[in-house]
Amino acid sequence: MNAAAQTTGWSPESWQHRPAEQQPRYADAAKLARVIAELSRLPPVVVSWEVDQLKEELAAAQRGERFLLQGGDCAEGFADCESTIIARKLKILLQMSLVLLHGLKKPVIRVGRMAGQYAKPRSADTETREGITLPSYRGDIINHAAFTAADREPDPELLLRGYERAALTLNFVRALVDGGFADLHHPEYWDLGFMQHAKLKDAYQKIVDSISDSLDFFQAISGGPIHETSQVRFYSSHEGLHLLYEQAQTRYLQRRERWYNLSTHMPWIGMRTAMPGGAHVEYFRGIANPIGVKVGAAMDAAWLGELTRILNPEGEAGRLTLIHRFGAGNIERLLPAMIKAVRDSGQEVLWVCDPMHGNTETTPQGVKTRRFDNILSEVEAAFRIHEESGSRLGGVHFELTGDDVTECTGGARGLSDGDLARAYRTIVDPRLNYEQALELAMLIARHRGGR
Ligand code: PEP
Ligand code: CO
Repeated sequence: MNAAAQTTGWSPESWQHRPAEQQPRYADAAKLARVIAELSRLPPVVVSWEVDQLKEELAAAQRGERFLLQGGDCAEGFADCESTIIARKLKILLQMSLVLLHGLKKPVIRVGRMAGQYAKPRSADTETREGITLPSYRGDIINHAAFTAADREPDPELLLRGYERAALTLNFVRALVDGGFADLHHPEYWDLGFMQHAKLKDAYQKIVDSISDSLDFFQAISGGPIHETSQVRFYSSHEGLHLLYEQAQTRYLQRRERWYNLSTHMPWIGMRTAMPGGAHVEYFRGIANPIGVKVGAAMDAAWLGELTRILNPEGEAGRLTLIHRFGAGNIERLLPAMIKAVRDSGQEVLWVCDPMHGNTETTPQGVKTRRFDNILSEVEAAFRIHEESGSRLGGVHFELTGDDVTECTGGARGLSDGDLARAYRTIVDPRLNYEQALELAMLIARHRGGR
């Protein structure tokens, strides 16, 4: 890779000369500068060799040799930095990956929307309630959700609190993974917490037993433990939205002669900040990480072609993951032209389906929700359309939680609009609960595995 070619005229601050959408306005510039200087000195949350490792795995997914599972909260809250919540989220992602591995017969790359998913794009800068207008809530790393002037004032200190929580979360995840939480030889760690649905429970248990049997068999014939296959890796990702925060954790690696964003393994550009001439695309252009870009109905083929050229001029494998989120009703009409645009640009990318963000709806009672059937239907359509276009769907991107919430309707337990009030806890978008998430993985595995 020619580092110079990718980063001509680029620096970690060069985005500041471009229009930057979705950035908070801080009243105290001196305090903000102090915080950014401190964030720039603190140690990184992740290290470059992990970032490079993930890029290699994503390159393999691009070739059809692996499959990406990316998932977690829409917005992580600081209050969710708690051992049980983190452990349950890790567990559901590991369990889904096991089911997908079994069904798709290929290794699954596990990437959490975790350890840094604290900043949210909003459709309006302000929110008005009963005649009072305040800044919108932009995520815990920027301001507080409560509707008072003090809570909604962006506070630079929260950037430090977010950095710390990201590090605490990843530290705990690493310890769990290294300590055997994810060891396939210990299926007791893989049990189903509050899974109630008997049919799902049985189907899942069969998968775990079958994998355990296979491991025992291979160990018996190889005469020793097979470490490589029995331990799993886990990566972090978040939307790289708050550019000063991302900039502060961008470090030059002498050995690699490249700049890395070391706040996370895989940052992505959201739909609302993906303008080719905008600050986010400028910032992302120069970092060496594998990056994601959300692709939605507002984007056309020319726009996507330009993005791929700016963000991956050398066509590096594993560099660019395009996460499309059209909605079950639109994917048929919109995806084929996007696949063609990327092919015409001469690029190979990793295609991933986010069946959440195009399927958000509001109930007559005014509650934001998503239907399980629409989510499943968009994923199934994505597999088929890619195949019909001579392309390949290489991963899925979900908003989910390891908890027993009621935010999306449908699924094996048949949640309806009337159930939503019972345990509706998300800060921003509705997430699949534990059972719905596992069921979805099983349906995808069955649908794809049975072919
Ligand atoms: C998100 O992933 O939470 C999000 C805001 O997505 P998008 O940028 O696709 O709307
Ligand atoms: Co969301």
